[in-house]
Amino acid sequence: MTVLIGRKVSPQLGSTDYQRITVTRYAGALGAVIDGVDLAQELDDATIAEIRRALIDHLVVFFRGQDMTCEQHLAFARRFGTLNQHDQVKGMDAYPDIIEVRQEPSDTRNFGGAWHGDVTYLPEPPLGSILYAKEVPPVGGDTLWANLYLAYEDLSPGYRAMIDRLTVIHTPALIYGTKSMDWSKDSSVKSAPTEAAHYEVEHPLVRVHPESGRRLFYVSGAYTPRFKDMTEEESAPLIDYLMYQATREPFTCRWRWQAGDVAFWDNRATLHYALNDYHGHRRVMHRVTINGERPVGIG
Ligand code: SIN
Repeated sequence: MTVLIGRKVSPQLGSTDYQRITVTRYAGALGAVIDGVDLAQELDDATIAEIRRALIDHLVVFFRGQDMTCEQHLAFARRFGTLNQHDQVKGMDAYPDIIEVRQEPSDTRNFGGAWHGDVTYLPEPPLGSILYAKEVPPVGGDTLWANLYLAYEDLSPGYRAMIDRLTVIHTPALIYGTKSMDWSKDSSVKSAPTEAAHYEVEHPLVRVHPESGRRLFYVSGAYTPRFKDMTEEESAPLIDYLMYQATREPFTCRWRWQAGDVAFWDNRATLHYALNDYHGHRRVMHRVTINGERPVGIG
């Protein structure tokens, strides 16, 4: 494995000029904690605008000690866009726009237990997700995020030139298709293998973030098996390297959950990973996902 030497992670500094909320950086690469806001309340436009700015600056923002109903969770998410209903995982009966990420003590497979972005295989992948911790294990069950801007910017100019105009295939097939593991056997996630998951979408590998204007490479674990007009075997060395680069420790942060915590991430510029290290305990999270836009490449 080649490790690039002598490169420094440039921290996400962002703006400190907030009037309505307090924003405190959480880790060197990405993440900030927002204080001074109760997500159960109807927030004014200025507060929502500051939360959005903090999200764009820090890529994942955390709120502690929240107490929201499902309606309040949905109402907060709707302030940032229309909501996404997962095409492969059934939402809650009464709230189809909320996925209950539930792991029971006897479950062996967890949801999100590999580096990925949420449903990046959609033609218009999500802007972000808002994950609310309802019940957490005594230890374990942390979530990690990775900063895709830093991963791209850290590549050598030669490597960037090589990948800048590639097109990558995104598909749910490997996770939700007929050859995937049957979720219902070893997990509480409501999904079953289906033919309908065998579709493919083309996205520019290097996309320009619609709000920050920064570049990043848009790989997403098992959702990105190959490049356009290439086989999986031919694509694997580059995709494996990009996944390795994206998730190198200096580009990540890790959150230790307490019940009542909320994480809101920019799904256009991050990957995340839910650790499955709490067997024998229950973990229940509610996830609401906000629709995004068609990714735009460098042109
Ligand atoms: C997910 O991938 O959305 C789930 C993350 C988590 O449960 O920590």
